[in-house]
Amino acid sequence: MCGIVGYVGQRKAAGVLIDCLSKLEYRGYDSAGVALFEKSGIEVIKATGRLKVLAAALEAKPELSATCGIGHTRWATHGAPSDLNSHPHTSEHVTLVHNGIIENYLKLKEMLLSNGYTFQSETDTEVLVKLFDFNYDGDPLCTILKTLSQVRGSYGLAIMFKDFPDRIYGVRKESPLIVGYGQGENFLASDIPALLKYTREYSILEEGQIAEVTEDKITIYDEFGNPTEKEHLTADWDVEAAEKCGYAHFMLKEIHEQPKAMLSTISPRIEDGMPDLHVKSLTDDYLRKVKRIHIVACGTAMHAGMVGKTAIERLCRVPVEVDIASEFRYRDPIIGEDELTVIISQSGETLDTLAALKLARAKGSKVLGIVNVVGSSIARESDDVIYTYAGPEIAVASTKAYSVQLAVLYLLALRMAYARNTLSQEKVQAYVKELLRLPELIGEVLEDSEQIKYLASQFMNCDDLFYLGRGFDYALSLEGSLKLKEISYVHSEAYAAGELKHGTISLIVEGTPVIALATQDDVFEKTISNVKEVKSRGAKVILFCKKGVSVPADVADYIVSLPVYEEIFMPMLTAVPLQLFAYYMAVLRGCDVDKPRNLAKSVTVE
Ligand code: AGP
Repeated sequence: MCGIVGYVGQRKAAGVLIDCLSKLEYRGYDSAGVALFEKSGIEVIKATGRLKVLAAALEAKPELSATCGIGHTRWATHGAPSDLNSHPHTSEHVTLVHNGIIENYLKLKEMLLSNGYTFQSETDTEVLVKLFDFNYDGDPLCTILKTLSQVRGSYGLAIMFKDFPDRIYGVRKESPLIVGYGQGENFLASDIPALLKYTREYSILEEGQIAEVTEDKITIYDEFGNPTEKEHLTADWDVEAAEKCGYAHFMLKEIHEQPKAMLSTISPRIEDGMPDLHVKSLTDDYLRKVKRIHIVACGTAMHAGMVGKTAIERLCRVPVEVDIASEFRYRDPIIGEDELTVIISQSGETLDTLAALKLARAKGSKVLGIVNVVGSSIARESDDVIYTYAGPEIAVASTKAYSVQLAVLYLLALRMAYARNTLSQEKVQAYVKELLRLPELIGEVLEDSEQIKYLASQFMNCDDLFYLGRGFDYALSLEGSLKLKEISYVHSEAYAAGELKHGTISLIVEGTPVIALATQDDVFEKTISNVKEVKSRGAKVILFCKKGVSVPADVADYIVSLPVYEEIFMPMLTAVPLQLFAYYMAVLRGCDVDKPRNLAKSVTVE
C-alpha cells in the first residue's frame, strides 16, 4: 500500500525522497508525489503512474534546492489514480501525505464545507489536510492532537506546517511508520528498506505516537503530547538485501534466496537434533495441553497455514482450523480454553490479520505470531513471536517468506508431536535430519529452472489453468494458483483432485492446461486416477511427482521430477518450481513481475 518518506538534512531533499520512495515501490502504487520546503514556500510536484515520471518532473526543475520535504507513493482507495487525487495534499497552513483510510471523512467534509472550505479531489486525505488547517492554532503538536481526536480510521502521516520549514512531523495509527537517525539528517518512512542507503538506525512509532523530525533531532511524543523515550533499533538487513544484485527481478532473486532463508530459519532452532523454537511460553507442558489451534492469515500466509494444518493434524493429532483473517474477524469465532491462535504474516502489518490477532487475544486466546519483519505491529502485539529469517521480501508476490513460514510450521508440528508423544524422539530426530537437507535439495530444484522456463513457454498463451492435488499437494496447489494469477494475470483455480468431478470437470476441454501435483505416496494412485479423468477429456497435463515413481503412460504431457524426499516436507520443494512457473509465465507475457497491477505488498487497509 501507500509508501511514505520524509527527509530533513543538508542534501537536496528531492533526490533523497525519490531514492527512498524507489525502495518502497514494491509496496504497490499508482501515483507519486513530493512536497518540498523551497525558499519561496512549499512546492508540490505529483505524477500519475510510475515513480520515474515523478523523477523526470523533478529533474526538469534543477532550481529545486530544498533540504526538507515529504514524499508518497499512492495506492488508490478513494478516487482513481490521478494527479488531483495523488498526494501530497495541501491547505493554507498544512501539507501532508497519508497511508490509510479516514472512515468519517464524509461527515468531516460536510462540516468543512459549511465553514467555507472547497475540495478539488475525491480523497479522504484532502478532507484530513483541511481539517488540520481548520484546527491550526500556530502550534503543530496541539493541532495534530486536536485533529486526530476528531478522526476515525487508520493513518500513517507525514506532515509539513508552512510556518515551520525546519521540520516535519510523523504520526501513525494502524499504518506503519518509522523514524531513521542519520548524521546531521533524519528521516521518516513506512518501511526499513527506504532508509538502508542512509542509515540503519531507526525506531518504530507506536500507535498514536508523534515524531517531530529536524535535521539534528527527533523528538517523540506520546498520544497525549508528552515527550517520550524511544528505543533505537539497528536493521540487520544490508543494502544488497534490498537490491536486485544482478537478477532481472526481485521475485527471481527471492526464489533463489530460498536455500539460504531456509538454513537461517531452521538451523538456529535445532538443539541436539531436536526442534527447539526458543519461545519461552511454548513449553512441552503447554504444547501437551493445547486442545485446538486456529491459524489466521491472508493470502500466501494463509496458504502456508493450510500446509501447517495438514502437518500438525497428521503429526500431532490436534485439530487445526485455518481462517482468512478478514473472515475470522467478523464471524465471531469460537475460541475455547487452552486453544492457541497462530497468526502468520510476512510484513507483520496486514490490517485484517492484525485485527484478527487483537480479536483472538480479546477472546482470551494465547497468540503466537510467525512474522518476517522484526518489530512489526503483529510481532509486537503477539504474546510470543517466531521470526522467519527470510530477509526483506521486496517482490509483491511472496516466495521465500512462504517457504520459511512452512519451515516454522513444520518445526512447531514436530516439537508438538514430541511433546504429545505422537512421535517418538527418534522419529522426530529422523525428521529433523531430513529437514536439514532441505536447503541443498532446493538448490537442486533451482538447477532445473530451464525446464520450468520451457514449460512456461508452452503454456504462456493459455487463458485458464487448473491446479490439482490431494492433502499436502492440495494445500500447495492453492498457493501455486495464487502465484500464477497475481503476477501473470492468467486465471487459474486450485482444486482438490477428488472434487473436480463434482462440477468443475465440465470446464475441461481439449487443450485445457492442468498442473497436477502428485508427490504424496499415500494418495499417489488416487491422484493419478483423477489426472486420467482430465487427460481423457483432452487436458494438457504437467505432472509434478518424485523422481523414480512409476507414472502410467499417456497420463501426462510433461513430467517434472522432484528429488526423492520425505513426503510430508515435499510442499517446501514443490513450491519452488511452481513459483518459477508463475514467474516465467509473467515474464513471457510481458507483465510487471515485481509490481503486479492493483496489488500492494503490505495491505494496510481492510
Ligand atoms: C502473496 O504473494 C501476496 N502478495 C499476498 O497474498 C500476501 O501473502 C498477503 O497479503 C499477506 O501478507 P502478509 O504475509 O504480509 O500478512
